[in-house]
Amino acid sequence: MPDASDDPLAREKDLAARAAVRRVRSGMRLALGTGSTAAYAVRAIAERFPGGDGLEAVASSRLTEDLARSLGLAVRPLAAEDRFDLMLDGADEVTPRLELTKGGGGALFREKFLARLSREVAIMVDHTKLVPELGHRSAIPVEVVPFARPVIARQLTEQGFGVVLRGAGSAAGTAHTDNHNEILDLRPPRPVTDAAGLEATLHAIPGVVETGIFVGLAHRVLVGLPDGSVQEVLPSGEPRPR
Ligand code: A5P
Repeated sequence: MPDASDDPLAREKDLAARAAVRRVRSGMRLALGTGSTAAYAVRAIAERFPGGDGLEAVASSRLTEDLARSLGLAVRPLAAEDRFDLMLDGADEVTPRLELTKGGGGALFREKFLARLSREVAIMVDHTKLVPELGHRSAIPVEVVPFARPVIARQLTEQGFGVVLRGAGSAAGTAHTDNHNEILDLRPPRPVTDAAGLEATLHAIPGVVETGIFVGLAHRVLVGLPDGSVQEVLPSGEPRPR
């Protein structure tokens, strides 16, 4: 994780994370996201609640789980009746309507699953993540069952998507999620004006486990800005300083 004092974007992520962590209260049940911004939030929680203070967390990835445990936070597996008071997570893209692209860190399935169980989902980003429509800044990840992947990739290519199998050709080889699936990173043929529609279309393809399009799940987005302030964006689209 970059040192927030040296890297301007890391500093914005850290600021957004610290603003989000102010929403954490003793004894809360937390869902923890994945990625560098979520990691800043985990560190800020551990800093603010050194003894744990009755907090209980479920993590969206092994990486987050290991980090939280190493900082003394209580992390446990998902239980049948789980509901969370607050989920803290990052995002790759955020539109003014609070639609998100997530999954740059590969944890999209677990992140979305936990978000749906959370009373409040607070997303933390640096200012470069703000986009008019999804697909502007990052690829849209889709988690797929490895057996079905070649067929899904061909179908999506025929529909005009740029399709890249995550990790293919790299030294580490094809990437696998914590659920042992693969990820196709999609470049849509045109800006995504109907995020919910695209999410439904992708989800309907047999073998697609989850998509990185999050619609209607974020309750607030905290944006770290270059001037050192944090802006809060709510679903109404109203930005307000924190
Ligand atoms: C993890 O799977 C992702 O959804 C991350 O939350 C997203 O990629 C943002 O990552 P950073 O916080 O590292 O930018």
